[in-house]
Order: sequence, then structure tokens, then C-alpha cells
Amino acid sequence: MIAIYPGTFDPATYGHIDIIMRASKVVDKLIVAVLNNSAKQPMFTVDERLQMLNETCGDISNIEITAFSGLLIEFAKHSGANAIIRGLRAVSDFEYEFQMALTNKILNEEVETLFISTSARYAYLSSSIVKEVAALGGCVESMVPAVIGDRLLQKIGK
Ligand code: COA
Repeated sequence: MIAIYPGTFDPATYGHIDIIMRASKVVDKLIVAVLNNSAKQPMFTVDERLQMLNETCGDISNIEITAFSGLLIEFAKHSGANAIIRGLRAVSDFEYEFQMALTNKILNEEVETLFISTSARYAYLSSSIVKEVAALGGCVESMVPAVIGDRLLQKIGK
């Protein structure tokens, strides 16, 4: 099975990395796909987000880290993927994720969405929370790997 794990990854957190590591063990190939997202105003460029993912997950043998724009389901088709992986952190994620899964299924019924429950210790995490804590001078050591924490501090000029 070839699966895509899509997201904004601005930046990737331990929560994302946990999903990447676990998903990579159950699929043949995992494509980690960074969305060039015009709806969000990211702190990091797509290239920076790709670099950070490469630095933290690049040594996993069956993953490919790449960027995409436009419809996820089109990207899935071009990549030969037959599944989309999403992490579920809490019940509050469910409604949005269910809507996306149903929409993607209508657009292409060949592609399945598979959910992985986030590890309890990362259930509170989001990229915005990490950026906010870092910007206000808090310690993000338990939230992101050191290479990402360092880049965050550089970005916010600390
Ligand atoms: N651990 C920690 N944080 C997590 C997480 C996890 N396991 N899973 C999600 N998050 C956080 C992210 O950090 C992000 O936080 P932020 O809002 O503070 O930046 C938030 O949850 C949202 O997750 P993310 O995966 O970045 O983006 P998204 O939920 O907005 O979805 C796509 C992104 C790529 C799946 C979706 O927008 C998409 O497919 N876009 C392409 C266009 C398209 O096809 N649209 C139709 C889809 S139906």
C-alpha cells in the first residue's frame, strides 16, 4: 500500500512525527506531503518545512517527503497512492476529518482514508501552540525536536 500523510507541517511537531513513524510501519511506502496552503499564512516556507521533515524523519527507509498544491485527491492519483493517513487527536478533530474523508471518497472512491489515533502524550499539540509558546519565550523541548526548536527561535529572532 502506498499512503499519503498530508499536512501543513508549519512546523512538524512530535505529534506529526509520531504518526509518520507509526504509519511507515504499516504501509509499503509513505509519502509525507507538505501542502503549499494559500488558506494559511505559514511561518516557514515550503522548502524550510521540507528541510525540517527531512532532518527529523528522512532516515526512515520507506518514506518520501515532498510538497503539493491543489486537490489532495489529484496528488494521490498522480503519486499512485491508494490511501490517505490522518491523525486523530480528539473528538473535536473528528467532524472535520470525517467531512474531508467523505469529500475525498466522493472525488475518488479508490482512495481510502485511514485514521491513526495520536499518542495521548501528544494529543494537546498543534503547530500553532508550539509557535505561540516559542514566541512567548516558553520551552518547546517536549513538543518539537531540537533542530526544529532552533529554527523556531531563529525565525522569531530569539
Ligand atoms: N500532532 C500534532 N498536531 C497535529 C496532528 C498531530 N498528529 N495532526 C494535526 N495536527 C495539527 C497541525 O499542526 C495543525 O495545526 P495548526 O492549525 O495549528 O497549524 C492542525 O492540526 C491542522 O492540521 P494540518 O494537517 O496541518 O492541516 P489541515 O487539517 O488543515 O489539513 C490537508 C491539511 C492537507 C489534509 C487539507 O487541507 C487538504 O487536503 N488540502 C488540499 C486541498 C483539498 O484537497 N481540499 C479538499 C479536501 S476535502
